[in-house]
Amino acid sequence: MPIDVDAGPSRRVRSVPMRRALPRLVHDPVSALAEFAREAGGEVVRLDLGPFRPYLVTHPDHVQQVLRTEWTNYQRQGVFWKPLGRMLGGSILGEGEPWKSSRKALQPLFTSRYVAGIAGEMAATINERVGELAGYARGGRPIDAAREMKDIVNQAVVRVLFGDKISRADGERLAPAYDTAAGSIGFRLLMPFVPYSVRVPGDRAFMKAVRTVDEVVFPLVREARADPGDGTDVISALCRNRGKEVDDRQIRDDLVSVYGAASETTAMTLTWLWPLLDAHPEVAVKLRREIEDVVGSGPVTPAHVPELGYTRMVLQELMRLYPAGWIFPRMAMEDGTVGGVRIKAGSQLLITPYATHRLDDFWERPLEFDPDRFLPGKQERRHRYAYFPFGGGPHQCLGQHLFYIEAPLLVAAILSRFRTAVRSPGPFTPARSASLRPEQRIELDLTEVVPVRGTS
Ligand code: HEM
Repeated sequence: MPIDVDAGPSRRVRSVPMRRALPRLVHDPVSALAEFAREAGGEVVRLDLGPFRPYLVTHPDHVQQVLRTEWTNYQRQGVFWKPLGRMLGGSILGEGEPWKSSRKALQPLFTSRYVAGIAGEMAATINERVGELAGYARGGRPIDAAREMKDIVNQAVVRVLFGDKISRADGERLAPAYDTAAGSIGFRLLMPFVPYSVRVPGDRAFMKAVRTVDEVVFPLVREARADPGDGTDVISALCRNRGKEVDDRQIRDDLVSVYGAASETTAMTLTWLWPLLDAHPEVAVKLRREIEDVVGSGPVTPAHVPELGYTRMVLQELMRLYPAGWIFPRMAMEDGTVGGVRIKAGSQLLITPYATHRLDDFWERPLEFDPDRFLPGKQERRHRYAYFPFGGGPHQCLGQHLFYIEAPLLVAAILSRFRTAVRSPGPFTPARSASLRPEQRIELDLTEVVPVRGTS
């Protein structure tokens, strides 16, 4: 299907006409953007959506320019960020001074050293929760992969953020509320030009979810500010370090932002793993063998993680094909030029690792799942911005160390105890959502490898 070529102000800019862009984006925005990018060979493309004409930016050079070298001109502002702002407020996921001071406060809490200090507790939470899955295995009932991944990750993240300050019941209220918010925002993200005075599908559910999150988090913030204690959890550390300089709202916004950034992304990434392992038995066998050699019958501990080299490669390749943060838009603050195309101040730019990770010029057989792409030494030959599941530049993800401890722990905890087989037929395709989640339910059968002591 051809892409029209318009006369642009600086050079001719490719554009996808509305008759083609709109139906494809409404139907399946994730795949549509990847297809537009591939058809354009990574050139900047303008999408004609009537009143709204964002630029799709996917070439690694252009991504680098927007996220890193000229990041001050391409900010997280405008119509796309507004819906998220209603949940997250102005904080670590915002821009300007509030972002800067939040980043300064949060960064030390997610360094590899700090994360190593909390990894033991995280492993204990994961092992305990994975042990509870034995009931499904013994009863011959499949698990809902997305639900269980969310549940396990939620408990691990809640522990990191709130320590023992939160009840299990309240911790469990956060996950569905956040989930509803992320799932009901799709319409606003797709049709960002619709004013807030007009109610759209998802609005009511979204606002209700925000209220639930607030009911859980605000009381915790108030208590922790009154007595932060000396715990290593994020709420204690934030209240100790910033309690005097910012108000309850700011601490709530940071906690909720980190919660969202940490839990949905990790859980959704791990949900996509199971169908991939089913479709690639050779990878599954190698992965299992590594986990058996390193972890044995478990339980897995943080000390095992550095030895799980193949597991890490599988996770890296998983995030190439399914980067949970599949889209993060930017707004041009002043006129600029990207890839020879003049970008006027106020224009929106769409950055999507999902599309860049599938460009033929940068990846051989881009649609194939092949963890060997991440063998040591291979990555150095690649453009830094051909692979950016965690973003780049000053807004680069704070949670990489956490992810690379938590995810191997979880995968090893599951595979050291169970054989897995996807029961639902597939194919599994991306839903219309702020993070990359499968549209279809993934049912996973578990068979116990080693009986888990202490669970029924
Ligand atoms: C698979 C897991 C994850 C993925 C794919 C992911 C992806 C991303 C991406 C793409 C960004 C950049 C957004 C932008 O430039 O606008 C980002 C930012 C961020 N991530 Fe993650 N993330 C993951 C896990 C985590 C975890 C576990 C945490 C926990 C701390 C976290 C915390 C953050 C924060 C706080 C930011 C904002 C940083 C800033 O703007 O200064 N993420 N993440």
